[in-house]
Amino acid sequence: MKRIAVSAARLTGRASAMQKTWVSGGARYFSSTDTEPTVESFLAQKGYTDPQIVKGMLAVFPKPSVKELTQFGDNGLAALSAAVIREVEKNAASEHLPNVTIYVRSAHGGEPMKLVGKEGQTFIQLQANNRVLADEMECACGGIAACSTCHIIFKQSDFAKVPGADDAEVDMLDLTEDLTDTSRLGCQVYLTAALDGVTVQLPKEVRNLH
Ligand code: FES
Repeated sequence: MKRIAVSAARLTGRASAMQKTWVSGGARYFSSTDTEPTVESFLAQKGYTDPQIVKGMLAVFPKPSVKELTQFGDNGLAALSAAVIREVEKNAASEHLPNVTIYVRSAHGGEPMKLVGKEGQTFIQLQANNRVLADEMECACGGIAACSTCHIIFKQSDFAKVPGADDAEVDMLDLTEDLTDTSRLGCQVYLTAALDGVTVQLPKEVRNLH
């Protein structure tokens, strides 16, 4: 199933700890009784009727409810909707870009996972589109280099294929468990043709600093 990462937390500041993925064709959310509005009908009353955008908005909430949406407020919902729209547009625009295949070796060993992303995406999108990877790579901060849960380790021979880390990433890496000379934050690594076919290792220990 296709997932789309949503960076709404950066705009709203209210959902930063929430899971920011949604699943196309995923579960619909209903209230406990037939007489209460569903979360979808609540959002429709607010003017949010596009099914794709509504699903993206609801996915920000672990257990969406009318009460929670109400507490989010009109401004919060507007910011969330805008973030979802941008993400949907960005994903649509990237459809024509070349594929980049990345192999990710689990901290538990075994055959590496084969993941296919698009040039310009980061490991955030790879994680959002792969449930197995998401189980091991939390990406708790949504990709703003503030949690270290996307820590990946390159082979020495591949490390030079990645543009250097900026100061914010280096500062976060300094606090990361199992730091190596070839460690990076996956959310800061953009997929390029040079990385096509590269294998990265997930660390044994991950510390969520978010
Ligand atoms: S997702 Fe949080 S540092 Fe990369």
